[in-house]
Amino acid sequence: MRLFFVAGKGGVGKTTVAGTLAYFLSRKGKTALISTDLAHSLGDFFSMQGEEFQVEGIRVLQPHAPSKLRERVKNWEKEFFSNISPTLREDFSPFFRFAEKDPANYDLIMLEEVKRLALEGGLEYLVVDSGPTGQFLKFLFLGKKLLEWYRLLRKWRRKYLKLKEMTRGKTRDAMEEFLGKRIQENEAFRRLMQGGFLVWVTEPTALSLRETLRALSQIRRVDFLVVNKVKGEFTLPEPLAKLRRIDLPMLDEEPVFGSRSWGKIAEKIGEILR
Ligand SMILES: Nc1ncnc2c1ncn2[C@@H]1O[C@H](COP(=O)(O)OP(=O)(O)OP(=O)(O)O)[C@@H](O)[C@H]1O
Ligand SMILES: [Mg+2]
Repeated sequence: MRLFFVAGKGGVGKTTVAGTLAYFLSRKGKTALISTDLAHSLGDFFSMQGEEFQVEGIRVLQPHAPSKLRERVKNWEKEFFSNISPTLREDFSPFFRFAEKDPANYDLIMLEEVKRLALEGGLEYLVVDSGPTGQFLKFLFLGKKLLEWYRLLRKWRRKYLKLKEMTRGKTRDAMEEFLGKRIQENEAFRRLMQGGFLVWVTEPTALSLRETLRALSQIRRVDFLVVNKVKGEFTLPEPLAKLRRIDLPMLDEEPVFGSRSWGKIAEKIGEILR
């Protein structure tokens, strides 16, 4: 399974590029396309509706963050509590009630949705239509942080279990198992992220290029640059000029999927895969 991320500043053309890229990938193998932007717009690009739909053989997902968060926290709670005393359950419950409603967790839950899809199996390609730059950077950081956090928690848990073992002997521990599962998942996902392909979209304007440079200084590698909405001559700053890239013209009409204007840029976007 290969992951493709499409990222960049707000409004530069990420969704257009991600949707088109998924279209070309779906000719080669089983493809899903997921939006992690909280303001989804894949439905508008494909002229389709709903949290999940199929188009041209692509499975498209636009997860509703508040309901996914509630669902996921309920599941974690169930798994976590499966072997824990009722008193502890009472102590921990308020944390889960709080977490399931906290909008600060929306980005996290989007990351969890991508992870679930990526690890579910059966896909050859997964394209992620990211939210604007800040969300994408947060995404990279969250992936790393989660894994380190789970490892630390398991280390502490094991220390505690060692002490407990001295008096009560060895027993199965639900919390250690829960943490072990999370670590396994996150390690597998991290490997997928590291082997992923990052497409950065920018406009040739000063502001957009400056934001791109700042973001790129925080990212290990960009595999492809798309300069979109080009109207005339432009020069790229040095580090960007070295990247593999395509330039897409500014069109008179919005390039929604399948339209004539889309046809004018689709073939070029397909070049990303060559
Ligand atoms: N080359 C182009 N010429 C003209 N309009 C374009 C071009 N590429 C994209 N657009 C239009 O620009 C708008 C923004 O594009 P798109 O939604 O793909 O950007 P985005 O980066 O995903 O935005 P957001 O940050 O809001 O998710 C859309 O209306 C889209 O149809
Ligand atoms: Mg978008």
